[in-house]
Amino acid sequence: MTELYQLLISAGVVLLGIFLFTGSRWRFLYILYKTLPRDILGAFRFFQVNALLWWWERKGYTVAAVFSRLAAAHPEKIAYIFEEKEWTYKEVEEFTNQVGRYFKSKGLSRGDSVALVMEGRPEYIGIWLGLSKAGFVAALVNNNLRHDVLLHSIHAAECKAVIYGSELKDAIEDISDKIPELTLYQWSELSNTPILDRAIDLSPALANTDPDPLLEDLALGHPRDKLLYIYTSGTTGMPKAAVVNSLRYMLMSCGVHGMLGLRETDRIYDALPLYHTAGGVVGAGQALLRGITVVLRRRFSASKFWPDCVYYECTVAQYIGEICRYLLAVPQSPNDTAHRVRLMFGNGLRPQIWEPFVERFRVKQIGEFYGATEGNSNLVNIDSTVGAVGFVPRYAGRMYPVALLRVNEDTCEPIRGPDGLCIACKPGEPGVLIGKINPKIAVNDFSGYADKKASEKKIIHDVFKKGERAFNSGDILVMDEFGYFYFKDRTGDTFRWRGENVATSEVEAVISNAIGLKDAVVYGVEVPGNEGKAGMAAIYDPEHSLNLKELGEGVKKALPTYARPLFLRILEDLPMTGTFKLKKTDLQSEGFDINKVKDPLYFFDRTGTYVRVTEQLCKDIQEQKIRI
Ligand SMILES: *[C@@H]1O[C@H](CO)[C@@H](O)[C@H](O)[C@H]1NC(C)=O
Repeated sequence: MTELYQLLISAGVVLLGIFLFTGSRWRFLYILYKTLPRDILGAFRFFQVNALLWWWERKGYTVAAVFSRLAAAHPEKIAYIFEEKEWTYKEVEEFTNQVGRYFKSKGLSRGDSVALVMEGRPEYIGIWLGLSKAGFVAALVNNNLRHDVLLHSIHAAECKAVIYGSELKDAIEDISDKIPELTLYQWSELSNTPILDRAIDLSPALANTDPDPLLEDLALGHPRDKLLYIYTSGTTGMPKAAVVNSLRYMLMSCGVHGMLGLRETDRIYDALPLYHTAGGVVGAGQALLRGITVVLRRRFSASKFWPDCVYYECTVAQYIGEICRYLLAVPQSPNDTAHRVRLMFGNGLRPQIWEPFVERFRVKQIGEFYGATEGNSNLVNIDSTVGAVGFVPRYAGRMYPVALLRVNEDTCEPIRGPDGLCIACKPGEPGVLIGKINPKIAVNDFSGYADKKASEKKIIHDVFKKGERAFNSGDILVMDEFGYFYFKDRTGDTFRWRGENVATSEVEAVISNAIGLKDAVVYGVEVPGNEGKAGMAAIYDPEHSLNLKELGEGVKKALPTYARPLFLRILEDLPMTGTFKLKKTDLQSEGFDINKVKDPLYFFDRTGTYVRVTEQLCKDIQEQKIRI
């Protein structure tokens, strides 16, 4: 506890200093009184997390190395539980060794990437971890993607091979002609599953491989080597492959672990997709790095959530905002409170449903956090303050690299003062969240994307000092006077729907292809009763030549469900102010409200056709009488 003691003293000295030199002393004292316990606990945990990461980096450990050490320390402990099977550390370790050894013999070189397209299961984690043992980098492709977007994702990470689960055979078959140079490996859960002509049957091949450790290869690994590619939509363009190195993986996983005080005896329910950071890093990583048992699911099910938590005796569960809303929509059941979940952590629990959620399911602590896969600005709410995504102590603002910048609301560009530098927001003033880049410190590094140009776009130069660089999250947040951060919105180039980020430019490209290169603009609109924003497209069609049937089919073929525009607006005139794109904010605020919009509106119904929005239909959607 000496650290805590020292921290207290130094905090005291700093505060006394500030107190003596500040104008509004009493307000300041009040803020201090309110936030000191939080800040001391936060600082202490923050220190612990950083010490651990510093130590691992010094020792040169990768995620695989840390995991192997855990497996040696407690081989019989349960690492993952999936359906009726428990996987011990030893079993995962041996499976990953088989993966590593097998792919080493397949003509790949260190640093090569391999696409992984599969539903969630322990083998999913075993495959990417095993690849990393041999120095290969798995690209975790979203398993909902089809056709062009799937192809794009495989190419974006320059994959040399594709490993897919047999459940996604059809999706791979659709694109298989377009990737003749890539070797396909099919992993099947059951033997005798038919496989694609071109593919290699991976399951028996792995079972016949030696499970001994790959000691030499492990020793070659470095914490800053690429570990994974995780796709994000970023703020512009098609899905981008963000580089996650071992250190970043450790930071995200151990950051949440340390800041929220998870325990070794915990059991975590992780029903989130493993190709995203939340499920695959923050959740699954607790077993790989911290020795905590994690329960996985093939896919999320709202009605199975609490029964599963009861059945598997989970003490911690993970959420994303959409999940919380779905859970509230399930009819009440004794299992709502029969579970032992004391803490839920995740991202996107909105203030409006926070309290009803906590009350109904009696979860003591909510660990809401904020962090972008590729970014370096991480925040965690450690004291369950309703609605907050985290905090930065008011007097530590300069030390912690996160800040809010004033932006132009329409263009989302930072506003600069006469000196050419950015302007920090005051408490209560919304601004874009940035994380200052300091490559020397693990927490402040920005690993970037596979595509260098895309990385450059996310960087703001000359932030508060000449030459200072920062990562632009593209998210608008606001900070209160106690230093709590609240999420406001996302800047206009992406919207979030059904737990996925959608890049508007990607959808725009698909639409203009499907309907012969007409001008289209895509944006997200709020739909009552739903988390996030649904896609809406405004299409310029003065000659009334738009074929809605063709558009509907094109959209279904090229876009995953969550990215398909639910609403269309047909424009006869281009907006008065000239360029089409800049009117996004106006279009967005009018949404699909038939009382405000005189243009024809269409709705993508459950059968997958665009139907005209009538007054009744609009009302039914507003009143949530129609399921979308
Ligand atoms: C409650 O959960 C248990 C354990 O999973 C399950 O067997 C039971 O059917 C659930 N009860 C209800 C009403 O869903």
